[in-house]
Amino acid sequence: MVEVVIASRNYNKIREVKEILKGLDIKFLSLKNFADFPKTEEDGNTFNENALKKAREMAKWTGRLTLAEDSGIEVDCLGGAPGVLSARFASTDRKRNLKLLKLLEGVPLSKRKARFRSAVALANPKGWTRVVGGSCRGRISFKPRGNSGFGYDPIFIIPKYNKTFGELGYPLKNKLSHRARALQKTRKILESLQA
Ligand code: IMP
Repeated sequence: MVEVVIASRNYNKIREVKEILKGLDIKFLSLKNFADFPKTEEDGNTFNENALKKAREMAKWTGRLTLAEDSGIEVDCLGGAPGVLSARFASTDRKRNLKLLKLLEGVPLSKRKARFRSAVALANPKGWTRVVGGSCRGRISFKPRGNSGFGYDPIFIIPKYNKTFGELGYPLKNKLSHRARALQKTRKILESLQA
């Protein structure tokens, strides 16, 4: 069985990655198995750059095939902000959501378009890399709704359901999300490596 390290300390993200890649003949390890791994500086200008950097550094450190994901939210009327800076937008999930809602005060639903983006990178210790992306369009709600998910999920509405990811719950989120779309492409790459 192939071992793949998931280069993340985010429990929710790790859970989604494992769920979406379910059924592959892979044993997933995470940073819990490599607790000394120093934090990667996410200083790239794009999600792809950050994901590749994390995957490369972790693959070198662990000597194993590594999967890293970088994600964030882009709001159209804010020129794509917070984008790659989504994690650093404020100090907690709640503060990040409230800050975004405040910035959009008075903006009607039709102008609250946003998208989540995910970049998934694979790297092995010899220097081989691949990176794929996925995105998911929606609208920013007027207040947080629902307790499922993490991060910006309670303020991200999927128009088809008129519900936030916080309300939709994991089974549906893991079919529709930016991460699901990027990981479906990743699944094909992992399957081709195993063939
Ligand atoms: P990172 O990819 O771990 O650097 O996360 C970037 C930021 O985007 C963090 O604030 C996350 O909480 C947020 N984020 C990433 N993916 C999701 C998601 O699927 N739902 C909600 N927020 C997310």
